[in-house]
Amino acid sequence: MADDGLDYSDIWELYGLSENPFSTNPLLVRGGIIPITCFIGRGNELVRINKQFRSKGGSRTMIVGDVGVGKTSFVNYARYLAKEKYFSPIKEIHVQETWNSEDFLTNSLFAILNTLTIEGNTGWLDKDTLKQVESVAMLNRISAVGGGLTATVIGGNYNQETSNPANIPFMALEDLFVSVVNQIYDKQHKETIIHYNNLENLQEKSVKRIFENLRNTFQTSHVHFVFIGNLVVDGIIQSIPRVSSIFSEHITLETMTLSEITEILETRLEKMKISENIIKPYENKVLEKLYELYKGNIRDILNSLSTAVTSATFDKPILLTEDTLSIVLREVVEKRFLANLSPKAKEILRIILDAKKGEITNKSLAELTKVSRSNVSAYIHQELEKYGCVHLKRKNGKDKFWAVRPEIRWMLLNPVPTDVRQTLIHPFPNK
Ligand SMILES: Nc1ncnc2c1ncn2[C@@H]1O[C@H](COP(=O)(O)OP(=O)(O)OP(=O)(O)O)[C@@H](O)[C@H]1O
Ligand SMILES: [Mg+2]
Repeated sequence: MADDGLDYSDIWELYGLSENPFSTNPLLVRGGIIPITCFIGRGNELVRINKQFRSKGGSRTMIVGDVGVGKTSFVNYARYLAKEKYFSPIKEIHVQETWNSEDFLTNSLFAILNTLTIEGNTGWLDKDTLKQVESVAMLNRISAVGGGLTATVIGGNYNQETSNPANIPFMALEDLFVSVVNQIYDKQHKETIIHYNNLENLQEKSVKRIFENLRNTFQTSHVHFVFIGNLVVDGIIQSIPRVSSIFSEHITLETMTLSEITEILETRLEKMKISENIIKPYENKVLEKLYELYKGNIRDILNSLSTAVTSATFDKPILLTEDTLSIVLREVVEKRFLANLSPKAKEILRIILDAKKGEITNKSLAELTKVSRSNVSAYIHQELEKYGCVHLKRKNGKDKFWAVRPEIRWMLLNPVPTDVRQTLIHPFPNK
């Protein structure tokens, strides 16, 4: 089976498709591998976010949801729908673990300049403002590659060695930001939408500090701030009334329904076809099975389909049925993960996999396996974590809660007795 790290991207031609229809990449405003028009559902949520964009003056929306439910794609689609009437940096701003308030501002300015430049719209800004933004952006870019540097920008000499990207006083950056969005509004009558992705990358104390410091900036007129995060970061924000009170909308994204996921895949196949007919690589029953295995998480469902089809396709198209899906994915999990592990590590992994609520502490693992806590830790760090089988889900005081990586759940697919194993090759005609 093709589990050797080679590139099988061209296998999609066998199915009459231009690209991998199971790609887990988010939908992008300007179209990536998957056309943005493959977006399905979320009707109510789109109405709510659109209401914020239409509320003249500015807004702050928090989008919350589990890993891989479709947060980035949702906001990108909302920005895509708004693209004629609003200005928005094309690419969402990816919040980094090390960021402070200055980084938030410099990266916002960088993103704005980048899009103005690509679209040939730098003329929307006054010459002076443009120059200032360019210096901030240039320093930001240098610091992204090289670390600290010395800078002399905006009204004076700030010659301190620093790792602050632009080495510009916070207030000057705030003023510059306000000035930029105001000029875009005054000259083009466009309000700005800024999309910050993955706030959960920040440490708890950074979240608090950044939102306290930027409380005023986030209330700048004519700017619609959209923040994406998980439940943890949302909880942190909710715990500071001074900060949570500035949010004008809070949207929780739930998992998609099975029929929505079925429709998403049908739409992708339709939009990515390169010939009259395509050969569909899966039966719909397979979607039901994966939906159940992953409680509806679309990212995990797509990743399973992608792995199954790419691993099993060589020079002929295949068809995933419930049985063939199990055969292929169980074989992948065995080769990719389990083959690396000692028997004891495998035993521990199985317990983590079967744990209630999908998580378990070192302490419970030690009790259940009768292995000392320090040995449990060693198995986890030296084998399970090292080979990507488990991850630390959360900490509570001294307790560490471990959970399996989504791929490990392939172990739960039904074993198929050898005598009923059917061929994987697609039995034409379709269905
Ligand atoms: N409403 C939708 N319509 C069509 N496809 C979707 C939709 N929502 C999500 N997807 C697809 O599901 C996958 C996961 O979506 P996305 O990356 O947006 O999730 P996320 O919540 O931002 O994930 P993460 O927590 O990792 O940031 C992507 O491939 C995306 O194209
Ligand atoms: Mg995302």
